Parts: sequence; C-alpha cells; structure tokens
Amino acid sequence: MKIASIVGARPQFIKAAPLSRRLRKGHQELLIHTGQHYDRELSHIFFEQLKIPRPDYNLQVGSGGHGEQTGKMLLKVERVLLKEEPDLVIVYGDTNSTLAGALAAVKLHIKLAHVEAGLRSYNRRMPEEINRVLTDHISDLLFSPSLRAVENLQREGIKEGVYQVGDVMFDALRENIEVARRVSGVMEELGLSEGEFLLLTIHREENTNQFENLNSLVTAITSLEERVVFPAHPRVRKWLRHWGLWERCLTSPNLMIIEPVGYLDMLCLEERAKAVLTDSGGMQKEAYYLRTPCLTLREETEWVELVEGGWNVLVGTKAEKIKRALAHLSLPLQEGNPYGRGEASKRIAEIIGRIGN
Ligand code: UD1
Ligand code: UDP
Repeated sequence: MKIASIVGARPQFIKAAPLSRRLRKGHQELLIHTGQHYDRELSHIFFEQLKIPRPDYNLQVGSGGHGEQTGKMLLKVERVLLKEEPDLVIVYGDTNSTLAGALAAVKLHIKLAHVEAGLRSYNRRMPEEINRVLTDHISDLLFSPSLRAVENLQREGIKEGVYQVGDVMFDALRENIEVARRVSGVMEELGLSEGEFLLLTIHREENTNQFENLNSLVTAITSLEERVVFPAHPRVRKWLRHWGLWERCLTSPNLMIIEPVGYLDMLCLEERAKAVLTDSGGMQKEAYYLRTPCLTLREETEWVELVEGGWNVLVGTKAEKIKRALAHLSLPLQEGNPYGRGEASKRIAEIIGRIGN
C-alpha cells in the first residue's frame, strides 16, 4: 500500500516514529510535515533523535489563527494527496494538523486512520477536543489507546473500525529510554540532582492565553521551595511577555527557564524529577511510565485512568492546590497498564496490513 502519514507538531513526530518504522517494512510510506512546528527544538531535533526519515513534503504552513492555519494546511495537504493518490492516510492525536489531514483525505475518498482515537476531555473550549471529535467521526480506522477510549467512541455511535491497540507513545518511550539514560547529559548540564527538582511544562491555550490562569501559575510556581526546571514552549514565552509576567519568572530564584529540550533529555528529566507539573497530554503518560508523580495543571484530562489510579492529580492553576498535592506525593502500586504493553505500533501495522490485503 501507499500510505501517507501526516504530522506537524512535536508530539506527532514522537507518535509517528515507531509506527513509521514498522509500516516501511511492508508498505511505501509518504511522510507529510505540515510545518505547524518549525523551530529546531520543536521539530528537527525529534527527526534526528528518533531517526525519523526526512519528510517527503514540508508544507511550511507555520503559525496563525486556527482558521488560517487549518485552512492553509487543508489546501496544501489536498494538493499533495491529489498528486500522490495514497491508499491510506494516517493522522495522529488532536492538533490542527490532525484535523486538516483528516478532512483533506475524506473529501478525496481516501481511507483514513486515526491514531489515538476516542480520547475526550469533554471540554469543547479546547481546540484539541474539537479536532479529536471531528477526526474520529470521519475516520475509517480508529486506533484507541485504552478501553475507555473505545467506550467513548461507542457512546458517540462509532463502533466499526475501532481497535484497542495501546499507546504508541509507550512504544516510543520503550525504544528510547535506554539510549536516553546512556547519552543524555542534561542533568549535569543543568546541575541537577535526582529527585531534587520539579519539571514544569505549560503550553495549553487555556493556561497561556488567559491572564488569570497564567498569572496564577506564575504565582504558584515562584512561591515553591523546590527548584523548578521549565523547558518553555514558544507559546508560553510569548504569553508570559504579553501579560508582563516574564520578568517575574526570570528573577525568581527557584525557577530555571530553558529552551524546549529534545526527546532524550526530556525522558531523563521526567524520570529523575521529584514530580512533573504539566498541562501536556503526552507528559502525563510518560511520568506514569517512568514512575514519577504527576500534577496536571488543568481541571480535566483525557487520560482519566491515571487520575483514578492515583498516578496523576488534577491541580488546576491555584497555588494552594499545587502545594497541597506536592506535600502528599505518592506512587500507588502499578497493576497492569491501561495503555497496553508497548506494542501499539506493531498491532496497528498488523491491522493495516490485513486490511490492505
Ligand atoms: C499545538 C497543538 C497542541 C499540542 C502542541 C504540542 C493545536 C490547536 N495545538 O499547540 O494540541 O499539544 O502543539 O506542542 O494544534 N511557535 C513557534 N515556533 C514553532 C511553533 C510555534 O515560535 O516552531 C509559536 C508561535 O508563536 C505560535 C505558537 O507558538 O503561534 C503556538 O503554536 P501552535 O502550533 O499554533 O500551537 P501549540 O501551542 O504549539
Ligand atoms: N517534549 C520534549 N521536550 C520538551 C517538551 C516536551 O521532548 O521540551 C516531549 C514530551 O516528552 C512528550 C511530547 O513532547 O513526548 C509531548 O508534547 P507536548 O507536550 O508538546 O504536546 P501534548 O502531548 O500536550 O499534545
């Protein structure tokens, strides 16, 4: 089969890496990068570290409002699909690149597969929730990470073509954690000791674009006793400056703002942190896989199993709740893994192979 994989943002490179390798054993894969992320630290470094083949197309769509960005992607992806005529399009996760790729494919009657189908936050104000719901409803093959995700789809009437396969990000982590431990020098470079720092990331629109939330997070983080390492996504940098909070961060003695780090450094930081504080979807799971407590800086999550199991605490953005959770960090016993055994990409490749024959 000729398969077009569409990626564009940081977590999608990580999700695509293990599956791409497997698909290429039996099919022709065409890799399309929308250009949603373009900084070296958000894009190129992941291709290098995860040994992802160079994209066949980089559509260089870049940043913009939701409509502008998604619209440009739709236009450019469609042109490529018309020219290449793939048998199957694969999209990943819940970004604007996901939705644009999905729409372009179905309108051309090309079979569509969605990796990470069925996740729901049930918060329609999140752009990602809209992207997920719409993509799921137009996909032919829905690869879900968990039973809960399959049930979410069933509740919306989507029953055909749904497969519970586990989490492709777990595959990526398993494939890279030993290398990360061996080659990453990030702990020494930053002068960190294991268990003696908190790892922070913020990039969710609701936390950056709303002054109240970002201000509250800055107040909370800068008042902590622990050292906080903060690889800051360009979105949060932009909004910290916009809201006049940047100086407060720079002058705070416990806060270490650094550039976004590569995947291998990130795995090391996640594994060695006392706790991860994040609004990232991927990092909630990685913290769990690496047995590091996680505080999620949101009111809800798609990865509900981790909250129910006590691995992840939803703390929102207020200092009081964050401090209370930090004072009671604990790691429950790990029984099974709701997101599979790290064989998601193998299973997806098998199913795609069966369908293509
Ligand atoms: C996007 C996804 C989000 C995902 C995240 C992963 C959508 C709606 N959001 O959010 O689901 O969790 O990626 O990181 O698709 N910028 C740069 N350099 C870059 C890319 C972006 O400076 O290489 C800046 C631009 O100012 C841009 C802003 O970051 O406006 C936001 O980028 P964008 O891709 O629109 O959204 P993310 O916040 O990255
Ligand atoms: N990540 C990284 N460097 C960073 C921040 C995140 O390598 O500075 C990785 C992280 O380990 C995870 C993925 O990027 O694998 C998560 O992406 P992000 O938080 O941008 O998006 P989300 O998962 O929230 O969609």
